[in-house]
Amino acid sequence: RQLILPRDPNLPPEVFHVLPIIGSAIQYGDDPINFFFKCREKYGDVFTFVLLGRKITVALGPKGSDMILGGKPNVVSAEEAYTHLTTPVFGKKVVYDCPNDSLMQQKKFVKFGLNTENFRVYMGMIEEETYQFISTDSAFVDTFNAPDRAWGSFNAVKSFAELTILTASRTLQGSEVRSKLDKTFAQRYNDLDGGFKPINFLFPSLPLPSYRRRDKAQQAMSRFYQDIIQRRRQRALGASDDNEDVEVEHDILAALDQQKYRDGRSLSDEEMAHIMIALLMAGQHTSSATSAWTLLHIADNVAVQQGLYEEQVKHFGLPGGKGFKPMEYEDLKDLPLLDAVIRETLRIHPPIHSIFRKVLQDLPVPQSLAAPSESGAFVIPKGHFVLASPSVAGMDPNIWQNPTEWDPYRWVSGGSGAGAAFKDEISGEKVDYGFGMISKGTESPYQPFGAGRHRCIGESFAYVQLGSIIATVIRNLEMRLPAGRGVPPQNYHTMIVMPKSPCDIEFRRRA
Ligand code: HEM
Repeated sequence: RQLILPRDPNLPPEVFHVLPIIGSAIQYGDDPINFFFKCREKYGDVFTFVLLGRKITVALGPKGSDMILGGKPNVVSAEEAYTHLTTPVFGKKVVYDCPNDSLMQQKKFVKFGLNTENFRVYMGMIEEETYQFISTDSAFVDTFNAPDRAWGSFNAVKSFAELTILTASRTLQGSEVRSKLDKTFAQRYNDLDGGFKPINFLFPSLPLPSYRRRDKAQQAMSRFYQDIIQRRRQRALGASDDNEDVEVEHDILAALDQQKYRDGRSLSDEEMAHIMIALLMAGQHTSSATSAWTLLHIADNVAVQQGLYEEQVKHFGLPGGKGFKPMEYEDLKDLPLLDAVIRETLRIHPPIHSIFRKVLQDLPVPQSLAAPSESGAFVIPKGHFVLASPSVAGMDPNIWQNPTEWDPYRWVSGGSGAGAAFKDEISGEKVDYGFGMISKGTESPYQPFGAGRHRCIGESFAYVQLGSIIATVIRNLEMRLPAGRGVPPQNYHTMIVMPKSPCDIEFRRRA
């Protein structure tokens, strides 16, 4: 019947595939961006592909992003798309295991802790952790102290994943977590992380050992945070006999402890614990991938590396020299090249290449985005998933000049000028090509942090963390890629886009 009946002309075009259930899983899984660009050439900005039995409708371009990220939560739902993946990892009653309105309140609670006063404190902590790491970690210590300044090398992904968790735990997660980053914590973290893979998204429950390990680790991690909360309470009441040297004021648990839902209810210990796990997972791979990519590009580009070093010296004085001043939160806005290298890296390598929603009510596609004919409109049926792609947006040749080129100067006023070729119909306003001029709206072509109601709340923290780490590395190390190697290609087989191996960076201590 399906073969004989014509397809409903109001359905978006479907990508041709040979294998019925598998659909385009291989092309999408291997290189989603290439797949999307090819489909766009053939079918336009809106098309449906089959991914292991699910129908996924992709909407590209500013209007496509707007339809998905600006959609109403009763029409396009994040929780329906993600809960089977995230709830076993984060735990119950938070994020996508609660009504959307509760998530919005939980995001506000966390934002309360992500404030300027805390960021001021975090800067020094992150700089200290980074210096400690690059001067004492086993991958760095010998080269760092080599009297002849011989070159050594480190693995960008592995080392900066370690440094990300050290700095996030020292700041957001709190000193008890930082002091307990031992083998047990690492094992639990790895088991939880093992449940955060594309296979878990596609097959929510399988009788595999990794699923059992994930569930056990979730329970252990939840207890771990709830213990910290209870010990803090006892200490506050003077009823604790432990001598833990804790500094709790500026972390997110302290912020959550003061919050109440609109109905007057405080967060339960379990909710607080699960929010902390969610933050750990949300910030870890995204920030560590971004620092690895940024350093790989900097190592590959001597001129930018020199520019960054000179920016540091100009602003703070010679590292270790007379009059040298440490970097503070307020300095971040006066370091345009440091800001631009992070911004540009996130344009080309947004860690999340596909943002999903589940369609809960038939969704008409605006005619200005795509339509079967002048009079008709496409309708995305209830039950489909919709997908917006920050990677396609950031590399769109209709918007960016030389989109595949990593050129941080496109963001700097008076820089290369190879910024975004904005057209008025896209932004709705006049936009110059310079630094910080891109809107944050759902139609923006720059969406590494998403847009709309589910937009990331960790952006400012990510800039604090990445800015302090990169500045500290630049002040202390010279870097280069091994001879004959460029920046590695992207690996899309992980949940977050990582550099493919090998991804070593050669380094020596600055003279
Ligand atoms: C949401 C990216 C760091 C917490 C998001 C989304 C993106 C994103 C694309 C939107 C997801 C969607 O719409 O489905 C990033 C990147 C980061 C980063 C690129 C670093 C470079 C962080 C950090 C935290 C965090 C450090 C925590 C401190 C969150 C939360 C949400 C979110 C709570 C909201 C989820 C929702 O409302 O559904 N992030 N993130 N992120 N992120 Fe981040």
